[in-house]
Amino acid sequence: MADEPLVLGIETSCDETGVGVVRGRTLLADAIASSVDEHARFGGVVPEVASRAHLEAMVPTIDRALKEAGVSAKDLDGIAVTAGPGLAGALLVGVSAAKAYAYALGKPLYGVNHLASHICVDQLEHGALPEPTMALLVSGGHSSLLLSTDITSDVRPMGATIDDAAGEAFDKIARVLDLGFPGGPVIDRYAREGDPDAIAFPRGLTGPRDPAYDFSFSGLKTAVARWIEAKRAAGEEVPVRDVAASFQEAVVDVLTRKAVRACKDQGVDHLMIGGGVAANSRLRVLAQERCEAAGIRLRVPRPKLCTDNGAMVAALGAEMVARGRSASDWDLSADSSLPVTDPHVPGASHTHDHDHVHELAKDNLYS
Ligand code: KG4
Ligand code: ZN
Repeated sequence: MADEPLVLGIETSCDETGVGVVRGRTLLADAIASSVDEHARFGGVVPEVASRAHLEAMVPTIDRALKEAGVSAKDLDGIAVTAGPGLAGALLVGVSAAKAYAYALGKPLYGVNHLASHICVDQLEHGALPEPTMALLVSGGHSSLLLSTDITSDVRPMGATIDDAAGEAFDKIARVLDLGFPGGPVIDRYAREGDPDAIAFPRGLTGPRDPAYDFSFSGLKTAVARWIEAKRAAGEEVPVRDVAASFQEAVVDVLTRKAVRACKDQGVDHLMIGGGVAANSRLRVLAQERCEAAGIRLRVPRPKLCTDNGAMVAALGAEMVARGRSASDWDLSADSSLPVTDPHVPGASHTHDHDHVHELAKDNLYS
């Protein structure tokens, strides 16, 4: 439909310069420039390297996205950008670019929340997001369970990791096993040939008195590292495939168990899974099994839309336009710890009081 909003989205919260173009809930372009190779030798993302790479990639990636979408910048109905959470310097590059383009083109600017975008992207794959939807967001920077009743205005935190993010655990275990960075995809691959029941690794925060929806992966990480060390110390070969499969099983068992439980407790019958770890093949299979058994409809976007990208930002921006949400002010700033309870940042003249949530979020949501 021609009357659906045409929006360009810019994502620079971590190491991916993503620029997407959508019309309503239809994906037109998803251009990505990644600096992941530049970080690989450090075993993790180096913020300054990421910021510089964003700066270099920004204009060519925007040009590529517009070309791929076959649209002209002057036809856009708005420009959306990740305002947070994420790496401060990296976010700043995206926000500055979005402001410059929006101002020069005379288009409204929408500063949006990275986590809400990870949820909203599923609209590009499976159509309008049911309200409410439970979302399990699992990536290198965040692991949270969120309840969304309106993706443009009402996203509530149900639980989050109290230590490492799920993807971080994959990355750290891959490092211990000398499998390189990022760890998720390679562990996924090795695990396919391993036995998930070979080693009984601990399931964090699953005791009767533990918080039902929070996660912890640091104990698991230590247990796996110790197990590997013990094998090496005894001069035995480390069964990499079995370790990968058993570790992965421990992670996805807890993630799916808690997500399904949250849906049941809250009477929500749609679960979406997003973030880089949602690309995990075993997570997808187990989530499908458990959702089917519980009568829950599962929505997982294709892997390319699960990892950080610009299309997800454009998707949320388009929803903001469609629902008549106010645009951001020109003084929009990047907020590295933007709370998930703020799906978008309307700017100073529209701000509401989120200071207390903000403090909470610093502790819980982006650890
Ligand atoms: O969403 P994302 O691209 O960036 C962040 O916002 O962090 O997620 C990257 C994370 C990395 O930790 C990576 O190891 C993990 O997602 N990941 C996976 C898989 N593919 C990527 N984890 C498990 N299995 C995978 N197949
Ligand atoms: Zn992300």
